[in-house]
Amino acid sequence: MTDVVVARAPAKVNVHLGVGPLRDDGFHELHTVYLAVSLFDTVSARPGAGLSLTVSGEGTGVAAGPGLVPGDRTNLVWRAAELLAEHAGVAADAALEVAKSIPVAAGLAGGSADAAAALVALDALWGTRASREDLLGLAARLGSDVPFSLVGGAALGTGRGEQVSPVLTGSRSHWVLGIAGEGLSTPAVYGELDRMRAAGALPEAAGPSPADPVIAALRTGDAAPLAAALTNDLQPPALTLRPDLRRALRAATDAGALAALVSGSGPTVAALAPDEAAAVRLAAELAGVGVFRTVRAVSGPVPGARVVP
Ligand code: C5P
Repeated sequence: MTDVVVARAPAKVNVHLGVGPLRDDGFHELHTVYLAVSLFDTVSARPGAGLSLTVSGEGTGVAAGPGLVPGDRTNLVWRAAELLAEHAGVAADAALEVAKSIPVAAGLAGGSADAAAALVALDALWGTRASREDLLGLAARLGSDVPFSLVGGAALGTGRGEQVSPVLTGSRSHWVLGIAGEGLSTPAVYGELDRMRAAGALPEAAGPSPADPVIAALRTGDAAPLAAALTNDLQPPALTLRPDLRRALRAATDAGALAALVSGSGPTVAALAPDEAAAVRLAAELAGVGVFRTVRAVSGPVPGARVVP
């Protein structure tokens, strides 16, 4: 019997996030391009009686607050375990440990990464041998970003973001992630977008804006066209809810980023650097300007959720 299975899954940045109108099911139609970047959460799964879950690392301090990650059945990891067990017809027996490096409620899909890592770790621990299609189906039930956290790399996401297809990249791109202040709630940011569109503060969208420019830019492998193509429809509402993010974006471009945008629903700022050395310099500079709580130099694409040998 296997002692422990360890899996890890990456954070993501949306290099294009085109948001269409609100659908009847409460989700928005998306055309998004996800890029998996080199910041990982780890999930360890051991044999157990029933399910147990502990969470440690970034954003999991003992003080109660909005950054706190639940260690109970409301955690997406717990739900991933129950869903896989039900699908495979096995008992949901495992002791799970999540070690977080991806900041919580940051727009980096940290919770989705944990769920994806739990699916692959438990598939191995329980020997359920779920097919790729089955895992993707379970992932989509857990959250819109979870299928991408499984596949990783770079991918176009359509539907509510859960339908993913790979996108070619000419080379790695280098980023600095700046995490500014408290987390933002994803539903609140989508709600603010709807409000701004209804009030005429932003143009109404008949559908999500096409991702073709960013897909073409990724294929060239050059950072400059990618910088010019970066798009996030959730950035204006994120800036309305968190006006201090304007300063954070400006700090990134002032410090030499080719471009900076809010990652997903924020509040992480993703700053694109010309190359790896420039990303290291940019990270050092942004760590010193006093607007970010945490700064990380990362690159992508990287693979999706995988068992660590
Ligand atoms: O799918 P997920 O649970 O990550 O979505 C969280 C929330 O984000 C949804 O309840 C919805 O309010 C919003 N959302 C949306 N449209 C999407 C994805 C998420 O409105 N395509």
